[in-house]
Amino acid sequence: AAADPALIEEGAKVFKKCQACHKVGEGAKNATGPALNGIVDGAAGSVEGFRYSKPMQAAAEGGLVWSHEALAEFLADPKGYMKGTKMSFAGLKKPEEIEAVIAYLASVGG
Ligand code: HEM
Repeated sequence: AAADPALIEEGAKVFKKCQACHKVGEGAKNATGPALNGIVDGAAGSVEGFRYSKPMQAAAEGGLVWSHEALAEFLADPKGYMKGTKMSFAGLKKPEEIEAVIAYLASVGG
């Protein structure tokens, strides 16, 4: 999908809710949560050196890919989407926030 600069900018603001636990961009390191470079359309549970929960490891073994759709469902309700995930985050309630943060994540490399 073509990158919409305004949506990406909005997503950068939404990402403030994630930053306590996640880093993204050049040189990003794992923290409470894994670094999120390349996460959109990337394989779940596969960031080098991060200790995932059992259910995330199982999802990774099952071949889960963070498609736009899967990511949107996970971010709306992490613990509902994946019982037992250690991502302690209530979720993003507004679909606009979810779309924006996904656009942002898709735009940052590193
Ligand atoms: C996992 C995104 C907020 C902690 C993940 C994953 C994504 C993600 C995509 C899966 C990573 C992978 O498969 O490698 C986000 C976004 C957030 C957010 C976009 C904000 C909207 C948070 C917050 C925390 C957190 C606030 C800490 C309080 C974690 C942890 C995992 C994780 C610990 C690993 C989960 C597991 O192993 O079950 N996050 N996250 N995240 N996140 Fe977040």
